[in-house]
Amino acid sequence: MASLHPTTPKIKLQSKKEKWSQFNYGRSLFKGHVKPYDVFMAEMLSELVSKKQVIAEYGCGDGIWLEYLAQKFPEKQFIGLEWNERLVEYAKEKRVKNLENVTIHQVDITEHCVDCDFLFALGVMEHFDNATSVVKNWVDHLAPNGFALITVPNLLHTIYVYFRHKIPLEKLEGKDEMIAGAYGFEWLWSHNTFLRKVMDTGLEVLLYQIVEESSERGQLIVAFKRADKKGLPTS
Ligand SMILES: C[S@@+](CC[C@H](N)C(=O)[O-])C[C@H]1O[C@@H](n2cnc3c(N)ncnc32)[C@H](O)[C@@H]1O
Repeated sequence: MASLHPTTPKIKLQSKKEKWSQFNYGRSLFKGHVKPYDVFMAEMLSELVSKKQVIAEYGCGDGIWLEYLAQKFPEKQFIGLEWNERLVEYAKEKRVKNLENVTIHQVDITEHCVDCDFLFALGVMEHFDNATSVVKNWVDHLAPNGFALITVPNLLHTIYVYFRHKIPLEKLEGKDEMIAGAYGFEWLWSHNTFLRKVMDTGLEVLLYQIVEESSERGQLIVAFKRADKKGLPTS
């Protein structure tokens, strides 16, 4: 069983936890009509999980992906980390109750991380004031040759940003970063900014891609922790 490690944030991290509790639960994968986004994510996650043994999801929400992956890969170990008590309860009761290969911890992921060889965080990294510092802690506990898959919203999808976050289009022009204020402290980043923040954690980017679903317009990175790098670069 992978153990939970407390981490020491290098700077004070902003947190508006009461806002995170607004996030909903209960979405279904592939139900009704088949959603191209879910199919794409399911294939991408499955491919990476199949290569690894201990998988951590940071900000796992209601456990929708943990349920899907743990059923598909009963021989792998899955760990979910999530602060929102309501979502953790739902995940444990409705999603992973009978799955012995999943453990979910109700913790603040700016303060805790776990040893694993694949980590993923979908729509989570942008919640932190100093996202690079938080993700660096996660990467410290990722095994050498481990993978990370991270998605965040896409600042450069201006129409989506306008309708979801009500930021006037003229304010978006030429911006690299934008604070959108949804669910607490949510940054929107341009493609280059997202890439730089991930690379600053010491990860090597293997794949960058724009992903879309009906309610999200996101960016996705698959990255790698090289075995021949000792530790992480100091900034
Ligand atoms: C936009 S939701 C995404 C949820 C899930 N990954 C998904 O794709 O459905 C962001 C999630 O990150 C969680 N979160 C944000 N900051 C957190 C923190 N510091 N510690 C633990 N969980 C956090 C929120 O509670 C929420 O469940």
